[in-house]
Amino acid sequence: TNGTFLPVDDIQGDILIGMKKPKQLFFFYQINDAPMFKAVLRRLIYPFITSTSQLICTTCPPIKVMLNVAWNAPGLKKLNVFDDLLDPHFNLGQVADADALGDVPGRKTWVPPLAANKTHGVFLIASDDDAAILALLNQITTWLGTSITEIYRLSGAHRTGAMEGHEHFGFLDGISQPAVAGFATSVMPGQSLIFPGTILTNVLGDPNLGARPGWTKHGSFLAFRQLQQFVPEFDQYLLNNALNDPSASLTVAQGAELLGARMVGRWKSGAPIDLHPLVDNPAVGADPNQNNNFDFNHPLPFNINTDQKRCPWSAHIRKTNPRADQPSLGNHIMRAGIPYGRDTTKAEFKANKTRTERGLAFVSYQSVIDNGYRFQQKAWANDINFVPGKSDPTPGHDPIFGQNGGSTRFSSGLDPWNPAKDFKLKDFVVSRGGEYFFSPSMSAILNPIAL
Ligand code: HEM
Repeated sequence: TNGTFLPVDDIQGDILIGMKKPKQLFFFYQINDAPMFKAVLRRLIYPFITSTSQLICTTCPPIKVMLNVAWNAPGLKKLNVFDDLLDPHFNLGQVADADALGDVPGRKTWVPPLAANKTHGVFLIASDDDAAILALLNQITTWLGTSITEIYRLSGAHRTGAMEGHEHFGFLDGISQPAVAGFATSVMPGQSLIFPGTILTNVLGDPNLGARPGWTKHGSFLAFRQLQQFVPEFDQYLLNNALNDPSASLTVAQGAELLGARMVGRWKSGAPIDLHPLVDNPAVGADPNQNNNFDFNHPLPFNINTDQKRCPWSAHIRKTNPRADQPSLGNHIMRAGIPYGRDTTKAEFKANKTRTERGLAFVSYQSVIDNGYRFQQKAWANDINFVPGKSDPTPGHDPIFGQNGGSTRFSSGLDPWNPAKDFKLKDFVVSRGGEYFFSPSMSAILNPIAL
């Protein structure tokens, strides 16, 4: 790739680069009056929608509050857009997909407003502060008046201080993203270079290129998931199952930290355990030239198919990006999620029990839902046989977000001194529901959506 040739002024900002603001609101709504909604969208809301070119502009004044928009399949129909976007899971919606994704059957853990399946669209509003978000939301909902009804809202926020950029379990997030040809100006060591059509619809690399309606060019499917995290329970599990080396030199705290790092595939600092298997290296974790520069393979006598001393086959980052384990088949996603909920309190840690909800407002962009989010969840994280071809035929579930319909899960390979051991795992991440949306190009928002 030699830089930008994609029309960045036509692509919504969240898709390729992410709005990356400390606060972000997800506002889900139902459309009651399509003509009024379209008129307001076209004349009043549209100028506030943030494009990729605005986000990458280095000479422009900073944007105080950013807006992106997306609709689900019933939402597009409600707006008289009846074209088939040729994505069966978008067409069916996530409510219909929940069991297949491994959620607790019957959507028992879903928040009622998402389970009710009445959403048509979502506003993603991002800023440095909540007041600016609420001011824009207020403006939008006033303009829209009775043409919409609020279904649900979820407020995301970066953690602060030393935890800035870390998700609620404490691990640095947002490190490894693919480089999109035609957009990325460089490819960092270890980064996957992908066709733009892996993320964007109707461009080079989209398996449905040319078959989809023309206006879907430069759009993307948005998979949203509200994923609750049980932090004190996770930490207690790590302590109860702390790893110990044969010379018994690890303290319980060190053994717990190592187990957590092996579940994720990275230390909390972001340093990959494939490069630093037994001791964290925060300098590597913080260095983009080093923190992604690995592929799970190493020179002989290391054997990628029999040796889990470095990274377990079930580790979260190995399940979701198997690198040298398996040639890339176009299953990359662009992640744009944000944590939600307050930090775990001392009282919760002390009681080993979650009292208020927190987690990850997960967002991924992909050109085919079943090649992106859905594939990683179903075919990789939930499948105990993935990665195949290893000396242990059942590596187990992704210990972070692999799902088994609420039944017990297991991962093997977590103990480097006893890799055959299966660790029984409760769900530390629980689905609270979600939806599949389409995030159209800037031009498609005007035509056909707001037309
Ligand atoms: C990477 C946490 C859910 C896909 C990571 C990393 C962390 C993390 C700490 C390492 C940092 C990085 O490379 O950016 C979590 C937590 C989750 C969650 C706590 C749930 C609450 C998901 C879901 C998916 C996903 C639902 C997709 C189905 C990925 C991918 C990577 C990643 C693709 C990058 C792997 C790589 O390229 O090395 N996640 N994640 N994660 N996660 Fe998650």
